[in-house]
Amino acid sequence: MKIAQYLKKEKIRYFLSNDRVLILSTIDSTNQYLLENLSDLQIGDVCLAEHQTNGRGRQGNQWISPFGKNIYFSLYWSLNKKNVTSTGLSIMVSIIVVEVLQHFGVRGVKIKWPNDLYLNNRKLAGILIEKITRPGNNNIHIIIGIGINMMMNSIEGKMINQKWIALQDIGIFIDRTLLVIKLISTLRQALKRFESDGFYPFFSLWKNLDNFYYQIIKIIDSKQTITGINCGINNQGALLLNINGKIYSYWGEKTSIRIL
Ligand code: BTN
Repeated sequence: MKIAQYLKKEKIRYFLSNDRVLILSTIDSTNQYLLENLSDLQIGDVCLAEHQTNGRGRQGNQWISPFGKNIYFSLYWSLNKKNVTSTGLSIMVSIIVVEVLQHFGVRGVKIKWPNDLYLNNRKLAGILIEKITRPGNNNIHIIIGIGINMMMNSIEGKMINQKWIALQDIGIFIDRTLLVIKLISTLRQALKRFESDGFYPFFSLWKNLDNFYYQIIKIIDSKQTITGINCGINNQGALLLNINGKIYSYWGEKTSIRIL
């Protein structure tokens, strides 16, 4: 049996010259912690925790966060509003997480638009981006929260109301500290690229990673449920749906997709 190794501050300090990475033992939510400390933050600051008592998921869901087992990661960034579509940003972040996992030998991770990571059709990781805008200021403050299931077992995950998977279920054990170091450096770099070049450089990577490409899907938003064929995304990140031969695009933080 593999024993969970705790996150190691000295190792992070050794590999990353910028050492603004806070590791907490337990906290309600790493996203919430950064939101509450916004005025002290510098771009690229990271908060990690071994355990979250009130981890937040998308659409008001709870994110189950057992001690020392998974990754609970939040990063602060600030972007100029003009360059940002939220959906493009969400997709970019999910592509980066897949690439980081690939770097450690994890194959077959796909994305459910816009930002759920799936492995063998089960949820492996989730991303929650929270934004703050201030009147009269063109910059948007964002907290990028990432949860990755590493060593959670079936008892710890029994409250999760969807099919999920952890890396240990496919026999993969990655040093969580090394994974976090790679994630921090890759994500910081990608955000700089996103800031200068927008979503376009990431667009071409989508097709190979789309978990439901050309499948019939159902889109659910606050107002309606729509069925069509998933035709990928446009160059801004909007989902393209073929409904009776016509292509429609969908954005949306409040939109989620289901498979028929
Ligand atoms: C989802 O529902 O798919 C998004 C899950 C995001 C979970 C992460 S864990 C670290 C960060 N802190 C939170 O409270 N949520 C995010």
